[in-house]
Amino acid sequence: MADQPLWHGRFEASPAEALMMFTESLSFDQKLWRDDIIGSIAHVKGLAHAQIISEAESDKVISALNTVAQEFNDGKFVFVASDEDIHTAIERRVTQLAGDAGAKLHTGRSRNDQVATALRLWCKRELTNIAQLTLALCDVFNKRAQEFGWGSDGVYLPGYTHMQRAQPVLLAHHFAAHAWAMLRDVDRLTQTIERLDVSPLGAGALAGSSLPLDADFVATELGFARRFNNSLDAVSDRDFVAEALFDLALIGVHLSRLGEEWVLWTTQEFSFAVLDDAYSTGSSMLPQKKNADIAELARGKSGRLIGNLTGLLATLKGMPLAYNRDLQEDKEPLFDSVNQVALALRALAGMISTAKFNTSTMQSAADSELLGATDLAEWLVAQGMPFREAHAHVGALVSKSIRDSVPLSQLVTDDKKLGDKAAELLKPGVGVKRRTTKGGSGPVPGATQAIELSAALTVMHARVATFNAPQTNS
Ligand code: ARG
Repeated sequence: MADQPLWHGRFEASPAEALMMFTESLSFDQKLWRDDIIGSIAHVKGLAHAQIISEAESDKVISALNTVAQEFNDGKFVFVASDEDIHTAIERRVTQLAGDAGAKLHTGRSRNDQVATALRLWCKRELTNIAQLTLALCDVFNKRAQEFGWGSDGVYLPGYTHMQRAQPVLLAHHFAAHAWAMLRDVDRLTQTIERLDVSPLGAGALAGSSLPLDADFVATELGFARRFNNSLDAVSDRDFVAEALFDLALIGVHLSRLGEEWVLWTTQEFSFAVLDDAYSTGSSMLPQKKNADIAELARGKSGRLIGNLTGLLATLKGMPLAYNRDLQEDKEPLFDSVNQVALALRALAGMISTAKFNTSTMQSAADSELLGATDLAEWLVAQGMPFREAHAHVGALVSKSIRDSVPLSQLVTDDKKLGDKAAELLKPGVGVKRRTTKGGSGPVPGATQAIELSAALTVMHARVATFNAPQTNS
């Protein structure tokens, strides 16, 4: 009965339209068609393996499932009004195609373990895709770092704390800071994927089945690393969705910080970077405008990514064991976050790889003598002065320089404790070369970091490549 839901057996009346409209998930879970079919094929093979159905029946259902996959691929699958979600739609069609054999597809299975299986398969593929896109952005940063140089002639800019100019840093070091943060994002995604690599198939509605199903067999068929240990947990666990949403929200937060930086860098006031026309937008009214909308949306969309995570956590907190329909609310935030982060990563990679930099503007901003104040204090420390005293001594010169509008270098030259040699430290491009701390910004530690970053990227590329080749389903 195509006009009745699959579960209509114990009902006398048809479902109200308002019920169907409110409870359906087909409008958004169609994305899962491929994963549902893959899960169903494994389930059918499992039924034959356990001799619950015959090989002939199994072949018939699998061929029907393949036909359905073809229909989806060709955009020819036809839904009917009673299709509540992608799972019931596919089962209905398989039964139509395979007759009595098709009616055996759902043996020993519930939509509860079915949907958990499909969603884990979807996550494995899509999170791998996000990991690759994140790595691609890391690669852009690494390339641009190499382009602007880690050596003593590397381009530098002011480093900021509290958004106040602090000390000059290499542009390469600045780019690499973003790459290291995003490498952690990729690492986090790989750990999330490893943790979610568990097959829930066989858990049934909540308690397993009295039929001789082999949960290990189907887990292996599906390429999962292991099967569930507890059926109640298997059908109610959405930790993996929450983790994925956290990973995506944190990527979103990183991209938002990056966006804010690029909004600033492309202002006339900063003028550090100029966006390629292909990666900037115009104004409908102001003909002269060239806006950094990618950067702004990277910043703006972090709000909904955080919202998707907190929304799901709020849904989960009230769940008694085991499956509750509330869990259907896991999909929209997940699909949305995956989609938005993928779009943002692609757009930012394009924006950053094509941008031009006003390196002379950056460097002259960093050449302000005041940015050498710490070098002066450290110079005094090297002469044996306690740091606190050195800090106060240089601070007093800075104050006098500002108050009397005298260049700091002149005051330093005239100073008994500092003098000519110390004044050299304030010359353009000197300070940035002096920092030698491992992991610090300077050509000496920079040479090491350049190698460390490239090596970390190579390791992570190899790691992500061990996951299933991603093929986006969206
Ligand atoms: N569409 C449902 C979901 O996404 C599938 C599971 C429905 N299970 C049930 N017992 N009604 O969660």
